[in-house]
Amino acid sequence: MYAATRYVARGVIMRFLLPTVLLACTGEADLPGSHTGGVEDSGALEPEACGYTPAPDLDAAEGVVEVDLTASAFPWDPGTGVPLTEGVAYNESVPGPLIEANVGDTIVAHFRNDLSEPLTVHWHGIRLASDMDGGMQMMEPIQPGETFDYVFTVPDAGFYWYHPHLAGAKLIERGLHGRLLVHADDEVPADCDLPISLDDLLLDEDTLQVAPVDTDMMQLMGRLGNVLLANGRSDRRVALTAGQTVLLRLVNPSNARYWDVYVEGQSLQVVATDGGWIPEPYAAESVVLGPGERATVQFTATGSPGEEVRLMNKRFQLHEEGGDMIEYDPLGNGENPVLAFVFGEGSVAGTPWVQPSVPAMPYSGPTETLGHHWVLEEDMMGGTVTIDGEAWPNVPVVDVAAGVDTTFEIENKSEMHHPFHIHGNNFQIVAINGEPPATPQGWKDTWDIPPRSTVTVVSDLWNPGDWMYHCHILEHAEDGMMGEMMVE
Ligand code: C2O
Ligand code: CU
Ligand code: CU
Repeated sequence: MYAATRYVARGVIMRFLLPTVLLACTGEADLPGSHTGGVEDSGALEPEACGYTPAPDLDAAEGVVEVDLTASAFPWDPGTGVPLTEGVAYNESVPGPLIEANVGDTIVAHFRNDLSEPLTVHWHGIRLASDMDGGMQMMEPIQPGETFDYVFTVPDAGFYWYHPHLAGAKLIERGLHGRLLVHADDEVPADCDLPISLDDLLLDEDTLQVAPVDTDMMQLMGRLGNVLLANGRSDRRVALTAGQTVLLRLVNPSNARYWDVYVEGQSLQVVATDGGWIPEPYAAESVVLGPGERATVQFTATGSPGEEVRLMNKRFQLHEEGGDMIEYDPLGNGENPVLAFVFGEGSVAGTPWVQPSVPAMPYSGPTETLGHHWVLEEDMMGGTVTIDGEAWPNVPVVDVAAGVDTTFEIENKSEMHHPFHIHGNNFQIVAINGEPPATPQGWKDTWDIPPRSTVTVVSDLWNPGDWMYHCHILEHAEDGMMGEMMVE
């Protein structure tokens, strides 16, 4: 009875608030990449070679990767032909420079803040010292015009990313994010190794400029965009040759969008998750990535000369209850192209895929020690999201012992998915509503907590420090779905 009343009430809210969102984003005007056929139609970009260009390493010594990293205003073109006047970037590139390292290397990033607001750089997923982590409780933000050297070692092979931890909802959307790729010692390079940032952007259809988050509902649900971007553009095309071994390293820096992606006509194998290579690759029709998550998939390119196969995104329902909520996504209910692969002439015998080895996954099940049982809640009427009934900075600090195998439970009492992220340590999902997960698991730092579900994770809490944890829907983090964990 109570529940039914709430749903009706929510329907009313939706009817009041949605029209502004919907009118702003679902008109007939064709934003590139946002509706079916966007990638093909634009056709503006020549196919680019499959691969990536790492940031130049300023230090010749083995084992040290030194980069300059400057955050500044940068009017980038997301593929509309209209530069974003409010765009921001690291080193005038969206995504920012890809920092490439080998496991065990030391990264030296000379950061300079050329924006007009204080910033930190957070190295998402890296098990570093907490005073280099960029979480806002551990360091003074770097003021406009000032510099700071981030120095840390990367102990785990994997695909990571970096972003500001102040004003993230605004700045990450506008382009302030970059990637950090850490290779394992025994990685055999794929023929085509393509790191892809899967981002979305909410553009005003008239001006093609970043649209403001101007409704309470958009703030409460998280900002979903109307244009899908692969590495900062809606119109990318990438050259492939049949037979090539392709590795797609995917990261989701979107404010709130859960992606569910596949590549037309290709048989995907998931080979890595957040914290790196998984023990056993597994076949998947598509891969879901919540905000902040990464996944690497591998496939053998299959297609004929001239053929285009697209990286497609399926619609993921962020909110499970009520048909009204489906309309909240300006992309609607369909599938949308993100990037096109274009097959060249001929074919090659691809380099056989070799799964790199992974450090042992030490856990076979929950441990005796319960670090904490979190409760996530949302109050649609009150417009709040909370952890343990409070909003940051009032969420009680969690104290746990370093180096002890420890279980954490995250109970989501809300009707919405929340991507839960903990800084500084690696975790392994051992149960979802008491059942072991359906697919082989790798190390995670960010994972989905489905509506009305409890997810159990285990960590060895290898890395002591003072760590933030939060929902990676950036509007939720900003609204206080964030806390602090002391590992000592
Ligand atoms: Cu991408 Cu606090 O995290
Ligand atoms: Cu993080
Ligand atoms: Cu959330």
